[in-house]
Amino acid sequence: MRVLGIETSCDETGVAVFEAGRGIRAERLASQVAIHAAFGGVVPELASRDHIAKLLPMVQGVLGEAGLSLRDLDAIAYTAGPGLIGALMVGGSLASSLAYALKIPAIPVHHLEGHLLACMLEESRPEFPFLALLVSGGHSQLIEVAGIGRYRIIGETLDDAAGEAFDKVARLLGLPYPGGPQLAALAERGNPQRYTLPRPLKNQGLDMSFSGLKTAMRLAIEASRGADGALTEPVRADLAASFQAAVVDTLTGKCRQALEFTGLPRLIVAGGVGANRALRSSLAELGQRLGVRVYYPRPALCTDNGAMIAYAGWCRAAAGERTLRIIARPRWPLDELTPPN
Ligand code: KG4
Ligand code: ZN
Repeated sequence: MRVLGIETSCDETGVAVFEAGRGIRAERLASQVAIHAAFGGVVPELASRDHIAKLLPMVQGVLGEAGLSLRDLDAIAYTAGPGLIGALMVGGSLASSLAYALKIPAIPVHHLEGHLLACMLEESRPEFPFLALLVSGGHSQLIEVAGIGRYRIIGETLDDAAGEAFDKVARLLGLPYPGGPQLAALAERGNPQRYTLPRPLKNQGLDMSFSGLKTAMRLAIEASRGADGALTEPVRADLAASFQAAVVDTLTGKCRQALEFTGLPRLIVAGGVGANRALRSSLAELGQRLGVRVYYPRPALCTDNGAMIAYAGWCRAAAGERTLRIIARPRWPLDELTPPN
């Protein structure tokens, strides 16, 4: 069974073909960074328009690269939410109309289920059940994953998502959009112990909070400016490193508590912040300490991509799932999902 996957929930257009037994046959990703950079964040209307312009040529490109034609597809999966409504509609409309014309199923995929299952595309893949730390631009959740569609959220952020905190603090430090990866790169050159920052809700259950940390950073930044109002390069790097250390410590502490609480023997890391090197090494260390195996997809599978949507779509298409409606749900709680049929 071959499934085309289409991701258009935010500011990346992702297309891939997954084939059972062979894995990802071809994939492409188009980033909209250059379009949104001038505005310091994603402009939804510009995002939708760019998805429209890029999507069909990318589908043709991916099929060509895999040596396949549309007729070789068995299903078309698309991100149905959560995400920007206009952007979701672009992927949903193209996927549904192609599927209708080809008389094959269109499979609406939950974006976070895509992230959660991305680790299955790696050679060493976890068995169920596992604990997942899902940290992206819009979500920070600890999820007990018993199987496909069997998700129990056991902890989540009470305010900002971890990725959102990275992006907002990056902006305070004067870094260009998209801030998270830029802040992480700056942090590599800094001293993480230079500034003392809070570890919010430490040892206080499984929920998280990042808005207080953001405020602490704002104050630290203001206090560090020179007489001319500027931040020197070493100070910026130390601020970035100290902030990153606070987020990584907090997430690592929450994972430790969640692993102890659930007794789960495996931890997987998903979502854009999962690409963060400091977080990956801190969780690897935690796993060693607790005797828990830690899995994380390669960084390109942590951030948004078409491959995870093709794979999650395949999991559901193989079980016979299908729908005739075009589904686009800007808000869609992950724990509303059910197992495939
Ligand atoms: O999963 P994702 O690509 O999109 C969403 O579904 O939100 O996650 C994007 C988020 C952004 O907030 C971005 O700044 C953050 O992930 N991110 C990172 C890194 N790479 C991406 N944050 C910290 N370190 C990174 N290396
Ligand atoms: Zn995402």
